[in-house]
Amino acid sequence: MEPSKPVKIRAMAYGDLDAIVEIEKEMLGKERPEYWSMKIENSEIRSPLTSLVAEMQGTVVGFIMGDASGWEYGVPNTVGWIDTIGIHPKYQRKGIAKLLFKEMMGNLKTVGVDTIYTLVNWKEWDLLHFFDKMGFRKGDMIQLELKLEE
Ligand SMILES: CC(C)(COP(=O)(O)OP(=O)(O)OC[C@H]1O[C@@H](n2cnc3c(N)ncnc32)[C@H](O)[C@@H]1OP(=O)(O)O)[C@@H](O)C(=O)NCCC(=O)NCCS
Repeated sequence: MEPSKPVKIRAMAYGDLDAIVEIEKEMLGKERPEYWSMKIENSEIRSPLTSLVAEMQGTVVGFIMGDASGWEYGVPNTVGWIDTIGIHPKYQRKGIAKLLFKEMMGNLKTVGVDTIYTLVNWKEWDLLHFFDKMGFRKGDMIQLELKLEE
């Protein structure tokens, strides 16, 4: 679906903190201002091209955060990551995540990225559907985990 009103995609700024905290609260019912404050500060320094917000009529309604890899985890620097994407529930299914994603992909291409990685919980059906629609397929990396005994 296409958004009915114009959507502006721009670089995330520290002033977007309250809007992002609110979006997460609406989505997940939790408020983490300190966490997002740290993430936005880091993103302004490290990845201004890949941390974006979507504005509709002056209100931030969604965001995407990611990075280009610098050989972390043995992953080549032609790999970009999507760390988080979130759209305010009232504004979902209007094509806003797709706009954010496309803009970020364009920015990553300009720095030489040719492959995108992301991690999704297998129960997050909305994200799985969205990434499937954007063309993602299951990759070759395997997520391993170990529970530490108390
Ligand atoms: C997944 C998410 C980012 C999608 O955002 P969105 O703006 O609604 O997505 P779009 O409108 O751009 O969707 C593009 C396509 O993806 C697919 N899609 C998106 N959401 C979907 C859903 N809930 N179910 C099925 N397909 C979905 C559809 O094919 C859609 O195209 P269509 O509407 O023309 O059928 C949004 O639902 C979200 O933020 N979910 C919560 C994510 C989260 O928990 N993030 C971490 C916390 S910050």
